[in-house]
Amino acid sequence: MMKNVVYFVLGVAIVIQFIRPDFKNPAVDQTVALNTDPKVMSVLKNSCYDCHSSETKYPWYHNVAPVSWIMSDNISRGRKALDFSNWANIDAKIKVLRLERAEQLLNNELMPKHEYLMMHKNAVLNQEEKELLEKFFDLQLKELNNS
Ligand code: HEC
Repeated sequence: MMKNVVYFVLGVAIVIQFIRPDFKNPAVDQTVALNTDPKVMSVLKNSCYDCHSSETKYPWYHNVAPVSWIMSDNISRGRKALDFSNWANIDAKIKVLRLERAEQLLNNELMPKHEYLMMHKNAVLNQEEKELLEKFFDLQLKELNNS
């Protein structure tokens, strides 16, 4: 009986590996991608770009189901919500909403997502990095509100 359960679980674990998300990054169009202060870029790339750009870096386990499904879901929903690779094309009204939300999320430590930070310790934002991002978001909001 126990043996059958083990075989069943192993069988399922193997079969689900055949359901593979498409992890190809879309091409980046540099004419619309965000391009700002290198310090800000480096923090964003380190902590946000894996889910909010077309420049996702994939860890070795990205091919292992069911982790791969969770990752693929986060990436597609993350890009849909806010895509720094498509920055110039985002409607101004939407951009204001996302930037305001980004500040709230940062303040409440809800972005980057916790499950992501468990596996990406280097993406945890320190105080200085948080302030850098907040300043950047503020500046963007000011420009948008004045235009
Ligand atoms: C592990 C993937 C991941 C990382 C890393 C990540 N996000 Fe997100 N983010 C998401 C997903 C998925 C959503 C879609 C909504 C949700 O599930 O919360 C989202 C939504 C958002 C939104 C829109 C929320 C709304 O409701 O309008 C903002 C703003 C945001 N993220 C900012 C950031 C910033 C800033 C960083 C880096 C400091 C970051 N995120 C890092 C996955 C991520």
